[in-house]
Amino acid sequence: MASNSFGLIYRFTSFGESHGDCLGVILDGVPSNFPLDLTKIQADLDRRKPGQNKLMSQRKEDDDFELVSGYFEGKTTGTPLTFLVRNKDQKSRSYTDIVNLYRPGHADYTYHKKYKNYNPYGGGRSSARETLARVIAGSVAKQFLETFNISIEAQLTQVGDIKGSVDLMHEEILRVKKLGNSIGGKIEVRAKNIPVGVGEPIYEKLDARLAYAFMSINAVKAVEIGDGVEVVTKMGSENNDVIRKDGRFESNHSGGILGGISTGQDLLASVSIKPTPSIFVTQDTINKNNEEVQFDLKGRHDPCVALRAPVIIEAMMAQVVFDLMLLDGSFFS
Ligand SMILES: Cc1cc2nc3c(=O)[nH]c(=O)nc-3n(C[C@H](O)[C@H](O)[C@H](O)COP(=O)(O)O)c2cc1C
Repeated sequence: MASNSFGLIYRFTSFGESHGDCLGVILDGVPSNFPLDLTKIQADLDRRKPGQNKLMSQRKEDDDFELVSGYFEGKTTGTPLTFLVRNKDQKSRSYTDIVNLYRPGHADYTYHKKYKNYNPYGGGRSSARETLARVIAGSVAKQFLETFNISIEAQLTQVGDIKGSVDLMHEEILRVKKLGNSIGGKIEVRAKNIPVGVGEPIYEKLDARLAYAFMSINAVKAVEIGDGVEVVTKMGSENNDVIRKDGRFESNHSGGILGGISTGQDLLASVSIKPTPSIFVTQDTINKNNEEVQFDLKGRHDPCVALRAPVIIEAMMAQVVFDLMLLDGSFFS
């Protein structure tokens, strides 16, 4: 597997599998002598973990981390920060009946065809347990961005056809869960107080890096910046954001990015996430002997993975913004 790292200057490398010993992440390019608050990292990890309420998978993962390098007397040393999160609540026997099957919508088929040997338990390396690494990397990035007063907030804004109302979205997730099924969702993310000038045209555009970062998250099927796909039906006069002499823009259809560079307006993006592939209704598939079979799944899966994704989306936006600010050289000089 060739690619387990993300980032240009602030680069993270993740390792581990869902039902292996641990998940870990190495953060490279972290400036030294920074007073990193570890409680904020744990708070972000707690927002990602399953089992928080009845809308989520009942897997009980504490996701406490060990910080094993790069930190001395409360500050970063500039050497790689290495975090480990032990896997404690694996129930591999839930997978014994299905390890020879390719779950529709999951990565079993492609991993097996490509690698021949892979750990299928709990989704192995394709499991979203890997997003722990992203959340840690993003949480560290957020703390550096806070020194610029930059804040990033993502929220679930749509579940199936239900938009806006949190109660109605949650009701929809429960309805689908009772059917043993799953449902997709949309997350909107906003970063505030972004300075002008973040992003490197032509090939490291801010919007290009964001799209890459979000699309690399499990189950993400679409990314939109600003008004996104709605631009198709707009005229230029409706879509252009008028600039005033004090640097104020009268609208923000562009999502705070022009020419791949931040305008100083809020960064706006949305991410569409597919329904959880693992569902509790009888499904058709094939097994590793190429026979068509029917199967029923056991185990604990989220009925709507989008519910747990906001903190992951925030993390990837933080990683990208921090990374491009470091790449520019003038922001953290
Ligand atoms: C936070 C999060 C949790 C997820 N949990 C599950 C899960 O419990 N069961 C499952 O089948 N898929 C889950 N997924 C989705 C799979 O990891 C993903 O669909 C699979 O790896 C195939 O990759 P792809 O959908 O990107 O093609 C989750 C995704 C995210 C973002």
